[in-house]
Amino acid sequence: MKNMKTIVTGGAGFLGSHLCDLLLDKGHEVICIDNLVTGSAKNIEHIDSDKFTYIKHDVTKPIYFGDKIDHIFHLASPASPIDYLNLPIQTLKVGALGTYNMLGLAKEQGARFLLASTSEVYGDPLVNPQPESYWGNVNPIGPRGGYYGIWGW
Ligand SMILES: NC(=O)c1ccc[n+]([C@@H]2O[C@H](COP(=O)([O-])OP(=O)(O)OC[C@H]3O[C@@H](n4cnc5c(N)ncnc54)[C@H](O)[C@@H]3O)[C@@H](O)[C@H]2O)c1
Repeated sequence: MKNMKTIVTGGAGFLGSHLCDLLLDKGHEVICIDNLVTGSAKNIEHIDSDKFTYIKHDVTKPIYFGDKIDHIFHLASPASPIDYLNLPIQTLKVGALGTYNMLGLAKEQGARFLLASTSEVYGDPLVNPQPESYWGNVNPIGPRGGYYGIWGW
């Protein structure tokens, strides 16, 4: 199998750290990018693999790689209501600029891209569960707007 090089942004977070474990198990070379704003180095300290690289970096700032990147899993964002309400500007920036930077990297590298979105894109939904055809019921200037704002545009 070809050696897959995969970036996980938010890789020191709750979901991202488990995704790093899974990808390493599957033989990927994993680059975890995280600024630890809500994650913790403790979540990845058990990883003892020469196929794993941790880069402390804020993805709202550009980052470049010389080597070919095959996949980008973009999970970086404050995600709990406590965090994203405390960090509204950082949350809006990572959803907008962070996604822009990672999409640019994916385009440059021809990498496949997966974004971890949120059901907050629906606002206070009038339909449960939400099918793909439902566009949501969103207040774009409410306190939760920073978390779903970019995805609702
Ligand atoms: N956990 C859930 O139930 C859930 C539900 C819906 C969506 N999501 C999405 O899944 C993703 C991961 O969620 P989680 O629960 O693991 O959250 P988490 O807070 O544990 O992990 C997010 C990680 O992103 C990092 N991060 C935030 N801003 C960053 C930046 N600018 N640059 C680099 N790293 C940054 C944090 O330090 C953290 O390690 C998020 O995008 C979230 O919106 C999670």
